[in-house]
Amino acid sequence: MERPEPLIVASNRGPVGFRHGPDGALEEVRGSGGLVTALRPLVDRMDVTWVASAMSDAEREIAAGGRRTQRSPGGSEFWLHLVAHDPAVYARFYGVVANPVLWFVQHDLWGLKLDPEADLRVPWRQGYVEANRALAAAVVEELDRVPDAPVFVQDYHLDLVPTFVRAARPAARIAHFTHIPWVGPDDWAVLPHEIAVAIHEGLLACDSIGFHTERWRAAFVESCEALLARGGEAERRSHANPISVDVEEFEAIAAGDRVRSRREALLAERPEILVLRVDRTDPSKNAVRGFAAFERLLERRPDLHGRIGLLALLDPSRETIPEYVDYRRAVEDVVARVNERFGRAGWEPIALVVRDDFPASVAAYTEYDVLLVNPVLDGLNLVAKEAPLVNRRDGVLVLSRGAGAFAELEDWVIGIDPLDVGGQAEALERALDLPQADRRAWLDAIRAHVRAHDLDAWATRELVELERRAPCREAGATMRS
Ligand code: F6P
Repeated sequence: MERPEPLIVASNRGPVGFRHGPDGALEEVRGSGGLVTALRPLVDRMDVTWVASAMSDAEREIAAGGRRTQRSPGGSEFWLHLVAHDPAVYARFYGVVANPVLWFVQHDLWGLKLDPEADLRVPWRQGYVEANRALAAAVVEELDRVPDAPVFVQDYHLDLVPTFVRAARPAARIAHFTHIPWVGPDDWAVLPHEIAVAIHEGLLACDSIGFHTERWRAAFVESCEALLARGGEAERRSHANPISVDVEEFEAIAAGDRVRSRREALLAERPEILVLRVDRTDPSKNAVRGFAAFERLLERRPDLHGRIGLLALLDPSRETIPEYVDYRRAVEDVVARVNERFGRAGWEPIALVVRDDFPASVAAYTEYDVLLVNPVLDGLNLVAKEAPLVNRRDGVLVLSRGAGAFAELEDWVIGIDPLDVGGQAEALERALDLPQADRRAWLDAIRAHVRAHDLDAWATRELVELERRAPCREAGATMRS
């Protein structure tokens, strides 16, 4: 097969991670998180150079050695260009501005407004701006090697990369994709004006600007108009394109040995009725309210005691950030409370596993009867697409209206409001009582949808949107100057 066109991808977290093993040797680990999971198969389809931040000591060691070739799990080679930031800069960039500030603003979480001491301009200028400048410099270096490559900039960590790349290479073809929600002007107004403006200008430095849903895209147009009076440009350059799953790769993972052994272990100990949630330990994922809803279900339905179990597989996330440490503690507390209240010899209502174990998550996907996905807001939520694809029990998806995936899947799920704990308990009950024929039909419909709108379709559309708009940008630039 002919080698496809080159592509430069830039994201904070790289497609593979590295750490030092017990003997000090470098070990490769699967890059975690939705963005990386979704984008990684691109390296098997395109001639990819991936620019990312070095996030561990092992990765900083690799960055010092310069760009290197890397082999993907699918066997293709790609270039990996890791950027080692000054640790203090990186701590302000990742641990203060990107998370929790931008993450919280864009997920409608209010903690920021309660923090009496949040000082944002210093970490912004000496963290976020500098880290974005360094990543953009790496992109420009790569553009010198492959000048015609389109540049795919990913997510809220890198909102300023397009500004810097555009300044250095005015003719570059640049696309940005936001993997989290976008919010309206009132929400952006909590930030210093300088920050909100720079973020919107950063995205408008692109030819093509992508979001998972029309809802996030419309909010972007609205906030561009309110902040910059550039709503028209935002309208012309943006599109909604929900990301998806590499169906073939995912099914191969599900059929692999590592998933099989975990599935056997799960089968040996699963309750008669299995409710599942799979998330990162992130406040936006709303796990605490999900456990409280399960508690209400147990209150209402004594007949389920001893028969039902909630398995929560949570990937530890951003553990150096105080808000995340507190949230993890809140999760552990509510689980302990429910288990203490209802548990008895031989039956633990909630099994909480906080570990990064992707094969265990995929094994659990095959076995759930009800899948609870209840984020406050979520750009898309890939679990809602991955799990139904491999489920073997006609499992029902209970899905938050705040998840981007809801717009695609709403006809085949039980919808819930993320702050409505009582409503979530009722939704769980409805899911358990749903007739078998409906369960099967809904699952089949979700699968058909995911197959028809897979990752290939997403990537192709991103390229098409960029090609379609890139020449217009030059005309637009002339008009603006
Ligand atoms: O889309 C949000 C995202 O960037 C995804 O990659 C992933 O879900 C998560 O955030 C990863 O976060 P982190 O890189 O901080 O672990």
